Amino acid sequence: MKSSPNLFVSPGNLLARHFVKSSWPQDGCNQSAEFQPNGQAPISSTDKQVTPQVSHDGQVLEFAPPRRLKTEEIPNIVDDFRIAARNAIEAGFDGVEIHGANGYLIDQFMKDSVNDRTDAYGGGIENRCRFAAEVITAVAGEIGAHRLGVRLSPFADYMDCHDSDPEALALRVIGLMNNLGVLYCHMIEPRMCVGAGEHGSKPVIAHGRLLPFRKAFRGTFMVNGGYDRDEGDKAVADGYADLVAYGRLFLANPDLPERFRRKAGLNKYDRSTFYTSDPVVGYTDYPFLDDQNSELATR
Ligand SMILES: Cc1cc2nc3c(=O)[nH]c(=O)nc-3n(C[C@H](O)[C@H](O)[C@H](O)COP(=O)(O)O)c2cc1C
Repeated sequence: MKSSPNLFVSPGNLLARHFVKSSWPQDGCNQSAEFQPNGQAPISSTDKQVTPQVSHDGQVLEFAPPRRLKTEEIPNIVDDFRIAARNAIEAGFDGVEIHGANGYLIDQFMKDSVNDRTDAYGGGIENRCRFAAEVITAVAGEIGAHRLGVRLSPFADYMDCHDSDPEALALRVIGLMNNLGVLYCHMIEPRMCVGAGEHGSKPVIAHGRLLPFRKAFRGTFMVNGGYDRDEGDKAVADGYADLVAYGRLFLANPDLPERFRRKAGLNKYDRSTFYTSDPVVGYTDYPFLDDQNSELATR
């Protein structure tokens, strides 16, 4: 791993595998507490249960009721993030990305649809951002802010996690990141939001909604969500972002940068294999360009 430049890992995700992700899962695999240590309830800012959700194949997913963290337990959780970051650096990664997005634990503390606490970690925006602030500060102190990125999704509503004032929320976290000199901010576009708008329709999302955050953040700004090659190039050329992260296109195209460079065709992703537990199918079995003899997969 040492030889790979710019290899980042998310301690939020590492933690998530064990307990964060399981608390408000988004992949449909962890909806029960069976993956928790000793089958314990997943931890959260709240004890409210996630609303049952319908998966792409029509299955209704019910989620284990979470356990609200006691105030005095929180410093240990913050410390777990610090240790995970240290371990990642010692394992040879160049940096870590704290996952403060998409309904994971930090998001559960930040957003007022979920956080119903009455202690110093609930209530006003400052209190709801306290957990994020403590985690970011601890990790930056451990490995250096120059090795740290933070992923945020102020407009997302995964796992019932949404906020009544997403702009103020994100700007507050960005202010903290600026003060610490965090290397990059990775923000998810509102168009990835899954919720219905008025009258049950998809909300109409104005393009450029992340611009205030891009302007406010002093480090490198990375956007994600629904980008293709041309749109990504445009976002960078327009100064809307410094970097573009690709999810589904990268999953289906292991050599995506090379395909972009050659303006080659892309494998189509297969949605039915998203979020499945098979380690290969839909994850590592998409063909490389050179393996295809110019004949593109048509899955
Ligand atoms: C199979 C799959 C698994 C994903 N897993 C996660 C995850 O664990 N955590 C997360 O925050 N986002 C996850 N995402 C969302 C991606 O990180 C990304 O935000 C999303 O796909 C939008 O980017 P795109 O339009 O480039 O695909 C996942 C997406 C896919 C397709």
